[in-house]
Amino acid sequence: MNQSELETAVNKRRTFAIISHPDAGKTTITEQLLLFGGVVREAGTVKARKTGNYAKSDWMEIEKKRGISVTSSVMQFDYHDKRINILDTPGHEDFSEDTYRTLMAVDSAVMVIDSAKGIEPQTKKLFQICKMRGIPIFTFMNKLDRDGREPLELVNELEEVLGINAYPMNWPIGMGKGLKGLYDIYNNRIELHTDKPKFIDLDDEGNPVESLDLMEDSIFSDAMMEVQLMKEAGNQFDHKKIETGDLTPVFFGSALTNFGVKTFLDAYLDFAPAPSSHVTEDESVIKPNDSEFSGFVFKIQANMNPNHRDRIAFLRICSGEFDRGMDVTLTRSNKKIRLSNSTQFMADTRENVETAVAGDIIGLYDTGNFQIGDTIYDGKKAVQFEKLPQFTPELFMQVSAKNVMKQKSFHKGIQQLVQEGAVQLYSNYTTGDYILGAVGQLQFEVFQFRMLNEYNSEVVMQPMGKKIARWINPDQLDEKMSSSRNLLVKDRFGEPLFLFENQFAERWFKDKYPNVELTAKL
Ligand code: G4P
Repeated sequence: MNQSELETAVNKRRTFAIISHPDAGKTTITEQLLLFGGVVREAGTVKARKTGNYAKSDWMEIEKKRGISVTSSVMQFDYHDKRINILDTPGHEDFSEDTYRTLMAVDSAVMVIDSAKGIEPQTKKLFQICKMRGIPIFTFMNKLDRDGREPLELVNELEEVLGINAYPMNWPIGMGKGLKGLYDIYNNRIELHTDKPKFIDLDDEGNPVESLDLMEDSIFSDAMMEVQLMKEAGNQFDHKKIETGDLTPVFFGSALTNFGVKTFLDAYLDFAPAPSSHVTEDESVIKPNDSEFSGFVFKIQANMNPNHRDRIAFLRICSGEFDRGMDVTLTRSNKKIRLSNSTQFMADTRENVETAVAGDIIGLYDTGNFQIGDTIYDGKKAVQFEKLPQFTPELFMQVSAKNVMKQKSFHKGIQQLVQEGAVQLYSNYTTGDYILGAVGQLQFEVFQFRMLNEYNSEVVMQPMGKKIARWINPDQLDEKMSSSRNLLVKDRFGEPLFLFENQFAERWFKDKYPNVELTAKL
């Protein structure tokens, strides 16, 4: 493609993730979006993957279905004049560091909240990562067809709990069984909650242009009053603040009954950003329209089937165009690699991708070349994107080799899996014993399984439970500070940190050593 074709193609891309707490409705809304994109013909296609039980004991079963699970990691479809990439952020038992890292590869996020529950813990964690990146965050208050919390309360909660300004794009008229419609503030119209979507435009004074029975209803005047109140006392709409992630546009709706979802998607696409620039380690800025190709690996998915050792490295293209068979350089090793076997993702088909551009995600078949955070490029000048952040694990496990005669394969396996980003590795500061850290339980189970199957090393794992990890300035460290309630360990770079038993232990420590600096990673 020539430069102007490349620019057109890149500007069409909208790459985002849906963040939510389990059960808020992420799968249901994804499904509706795919329906609009014509990718799936029936509701239930994406859902089917969730009905395959994701429980731990069924790990092997999951792997049999790997084809499905891998392909739905990225869903691409065309809608109006845009090409949309939705990246899956696994939750439930699949919640892991990969979930966090996926957020490094998107340009915006959609936060789905159950309007009966408000902000839940996993939403908060994922939100904080989006906030740290300064990407636009759009909020969808879901399940309006059920009785939930007061809309005003939900909007206030965004400001109070997450610290983000909120601007309602629409406002519910009733709720649950009494749901009549939405006052679509952005489009200045009423969206009626009827079987077929029906819209009534409003005039400049906010009165419906055609007669509407609903106007007689007190819930209609209540909703109009609340909106008026917010227009006077609430935040102003500010596109710049949306772009920097300081203001979240809020949409109400019901994914299940497909109410307000299309309105949301259309408005979202008016404001969602095209692929952004990326900064390199030497602080140069790589623009998506640059003709030279570059990208980084944000996730590696290993095939759990011992007969198929292949892995898929997920690459976010940051600039230029990918063509199958192209030669690139892997910056870390300065090695040339031919990208001949690559995959593009769709809802249920896995196809070999011929071309892709900045903003797209491609899967590269990998035989062990790639690590998480790797950069590849095809220009003359070497490119290395900034390191992916290290996330603070919450769950810890002591790990050792069952058979002491097999230390070599044990160490090799651990080193490789840690490098790949499957788990984080720590060691007891005094004894040197290995401790694994993860953000989700499944990471440990995958680790144990792969150690046995790929490295022939049976491991013994002893749960240490939840801990709060806090790094300490090495200059301030005194080994005597360590106790059973705040265990001193080293991370894999040799940096010291404490694993606090709970918040109480952390507070106790801070009281005892007020001058000692403790820091969390993300
Ligand atoms: P997740 O991916 O965020 O975990 O949530 P998912 O979409 O699977 O939705 C969780 C449950 O909430 C599902 O019910 C789903 O049908 C329901 N749900 C999603 N959106 C809405 C909505 O707008 N209104 C209502 N009333 N329910 C909604 P389930 O009973 O757990 O699953 P299923 O038996 O319906 O498949």
